[in-house]
Amino acid sequence: MLTLEVSEQLLRLLGSVLDIRQVFPEISAIVQPVIPHDRLTMTLHDGQRSLVAHAFSNDDGPFLVRIHGTHIEALQDGWFRIVDDISTMTDPPWTDVEPKDYRTQLSDAGYRSVMSVIVRGRHQRIALHFWSKQAAAFSDADVPAARLIALHLALGVSHEQLAEAAEEARAARRRAQKLAQRVEALSEALDSHRGVTRMAGTSAEWRRVVTAATQVAATETTVLLTGESGTGKEVISRYIHRASTRRHGPFVAVNCAALPEPLLESELFGHERGAFTGAQQRKPGQIDVAAGGVLLLDEVSEMALSAQVKLLRVLQEREFTRLGGTRPVKADIRLIAATNRDLRAAVERGDFRDDLYYRLQVFGIHLPPLRERPEDIVALTAQFLEDLGQQFGRAPAGITYDAKAALLAHPWRGNARELRNALERAAILAEGGLITPEHLALEPLARTDAATTTDVREMERQLITRVLREARGNKSRAARKLGLSRKQLYHRIGMYGIG
Ligand SMILES: Nc1ncnc2c1ncn2[C@@H]1O[C@H](COP(=O)(O)OP(=O)(O)OP(=O)(O)O)[C@@H](O)[C@H]1O
Ligand SMILES: [Mg+2]
Repeated sequence: MLTLEVSEQLLRLLGSVLDIRQVFPEISAIVQPVIPHDRLTMTLHDGQRSLVAHAFSNDDGPFLVRIHGTHIEALQDGWFRIVDDISTMTDPPWTDVEPKDYRTQLSDAGYRSVMSVIVRGRHQRIALHFWSKQAAAFSDADVPAARLIALHLALGVSHEQLAEAAEEARAARRRAQKLAQRVEALSEALDSHRGVTRMAGTSAEWRRVVTAATQVAATETTVLLTGESGTGKEVISRYIHRASTRRHGPFVAVNCAALPEPLLESELFGHERGAFTGAQQRKPGQIDVAAGGVLLLDEVSEMALSAQVKLLRVLQEREFTRLGGTRPVKADIRLIAATNRDLRAAVERGDFRDDLYYRLQVFGIHLPPLRERPEDIVALTAQFLEDLGQQFGRAPAGITYDAKAALLAHPWRGNARELRNALERAAILAEGGLITPEHLALEPLARTDAATTTDVREMERQLITRVLREARGNKSRAARKLGLSRKQLYHRIGMYGIG
């Protein structure tokens, strides 16, 4: 009989540890008065066809690894078995048991009989086995107590598994935190490039981009960045460079659209002396220059087919030949390609080699347009105003509520670049004061055609001309009427050529 006292002892013990295996010898000792035995073992039923070893009360006996077989599936809560003489036992078939000589090992260790019970735990069924060195040591009368003991242990196992799950969740949180910290540190350290010291963006879309970039940075994998013009493809490729092991090597950007076909090849791969008229000296290519570092091929869709073949060879064989050369040269670069075109469509048109396309897009990162992540308009505005303030040597310009609303409403077809330019213009016009919608001079939403733009400007020109006339050329009075500073008025007079 399992007394309250034994039950309490068991529960106390199980509640105090996270790993039931550590206290299995004590468990065996506690239940000894209830069911005398020489060894106590526990196996876990994976819900399918295996029972796997989990705990042992002592080393005085063989170590069961696993019992595997279809019959295991049938072992449900409530199942029990008493074997009076192990040597006559035929079920389960010993062939299903690991180690194969389990039975021999049992009898060598002196074991003669066993009682097993199965109870249901939190995630799986739990089997408890009482072993004895005497034949027929157990009887049906022991089964209820054995089940009760097993139920106590099931509680301990689920306690253990909950703790494990919690630990796993903690570890996952720690990993996510680490990644976030790394992203943060790397964005901070992003080298200043055209006045930008820090990568900005708080939207989920942008965070996804940065996370993917961080993950791929640690590898040597080729990356293909796609996205509209001005979405930050170069910013991200510099970020990948910074975050990679090649960060101490160079970062070289080549714009494939900027050079006519033959020049691009010579620019990329270099040429030997006399390779073509005017090639008086051997010239290293940008691939040489980028050795040990990262090469960004911008507007890769514009690359001519002959250059594509050579680039493919660089990616496949890590080597290339200079123009006019015969000797293959090793290419030690990590490639990042960027495009604002639909490369797949270019492949379908036959303008882009499909084998190169597949090589490039092993790891693609798409940068969504700014209008799809309005949250980032706010973050980028703050960042750009800070950059511009630093550039101008003054505090970042403030911005009125209406101007903010105008920024959020604008479609930003030129994305971050357009935003940066608009803010730069506005910060100049505001002269250290608050930026208003008129400083931004954004085209109204849904009226983005050039004709309307001219109309708006024309309206402003006419307004200024009229006010000036009314003020009889007194610019201070006109400026006051228009709500502009004198400087701002002068700027507009100059801009519109008002004589
Ligand atoms: N997340 C960002 N944080 C800070 N600055 C950014 C960010 N995204 C873009 N910019 C700025 O916007 C401008 C355009 O970015 P970038 O040159 O990376 O765009 P791109 O996608 O390469 O454009 P294109 O296709 O025209 O070459 C740059 O001045 C860059 O510094
Ligand atoms: Mg670019």
